[in-house]
Amino acid sequence: MMSDGKFPEGSAGGNASSNGAPYAIEVEHIVKKFGDFTAVDDVSFNVKEGEIFGLLGPNGAGKSTLIRMMTTLIPITAGTARIVGHDVQKDPDAVRRSMGVIPQALTSDLDLTIEENLNIYAKLYDVPARRRKAAIDELLELVDLTKWRTAQTKTLSGGMRRRLEIARGLVHSPRIFFLDEPTTGLDPVSRVSVWEMLTNIKSHRQLTILITTHYMDEADRLCDRIAIVDHGKLVALDSPTALKASVPGSNVIEAQFENAPADWEQRLHTLEEVTSVQHEGAGMYRILTGNGSRATTQLVEMAVQAGVPVKSLSVQNTTLDDVFVHYTGRQLRDELVKAYAFVMPPRPGLQP
Ligand SMILES: Nc1ncnc2c1ncn2[C@@H]1O[C@H](COP(=O)(O)OP(=O)(O)O)[C@@H](O)[C@H]1O
Ligand SMILES: [Mg+2]
Repeated sequence: MMSDGKFPEGSAGGNASSNGAPYAIEVEHIVKKFGDFTAVDDVSFNVKEGEIFGLLGPNGAGKSTLIRMMTTLIPITAGTARIVGHDVQKDPDAVRRSMGVIPQALTSDLDLTIEENLNIYAKLYDVPARRRKAAIDELLELVDLTKWRTAQTKTLSGGMRRRLEIARGLVHSPRIFFLDEPTTGLDPVSRVSVWEMLTNIKSHRQLTILITTHYMDEADRLCDRIAIVDHGKLVALDSPTALKASVPGSNVIEAQFENAPADWEQRLHTLEEVTSVQHEGAGMYRILTGNGSRATTQLVEMAVQAGVPVKSLSVQNTTLDDVFVHYTGRQLRDELVKAYAFVMPPRPGLQP
């Protein structure tokens, strides 16, 4: 596991990053206990202004608890968090004014129209009446909901409701935007459209985004830096590229064999190009290598010579899932299957 010393940017003190830009978020040794249970365990990181920072981890890792502490919704057990320089415990009002939050659960009022939902928030955040309409018009354009402005929220699909909530969270022009799993439960097309919205919004506004997700692919594509959290602890923090580079080998081979002998894992390990092998059960092996094509050739030759049939084989570039396996010994994918096996499918809606 990485130690604090390996987070040159993430754990630096003070309120300016190495390139002089001020930090938007500074979290130092933050802890949250629920009774005897430690949900967040001594986590430290800084987020630079203008960054898209991802918290990636399985269900129950402590992502929402971290967000709820940073956004003043629950008290901190120990440690500190500062949002654009304001301490969340000493100056919660200043923190609330400078941030927008999209909680994990959808919270728009279903009986109101899109526009009415936005108007209520604009009033709640004291957006002056003369600015409200222009602000709402601009946001509706940004999230591509202009033509639905008078539609009742209950008639919208999950993806459209998410986009409404994104607009709602930005109605008072916050500097920091917290989004807790904005794409969970959405179909792939809606997920992409939510991320496109966020990218588009970022190109129009000075905004720092902290987002949680358990989708490795979207964290990989859209975050400048990612903190991997597991069981309340920060296990790795870096850019997606650097995180993947920290895993030995640049390719992952997943191979399934029939009637593999007991020492098959060790034998695979002796292949020249193979850096690590993990037996995942049911004849399935996960093999890390720096050279996918050569390792595949060697592996197939060895299997043919040993008379061990290959049932399936795939070669991929390393993903954040491999990073998660590297630091935790478990697969994020498996954790999610376990966690979401009992979740009901999302309600069908109008359109993505
Ligand atoms: N109010 C609470 N009381 C007791 N335990 C909680 C509470 N909120 C969260 N937890 C526990 O803390 C852990 C982290 O939860 P959470 O932050 O929601 O994880 P994530 O958002 O990463 O899925 C989980 O084990 C969860 O059950
Ligand atoms: Mg959560």
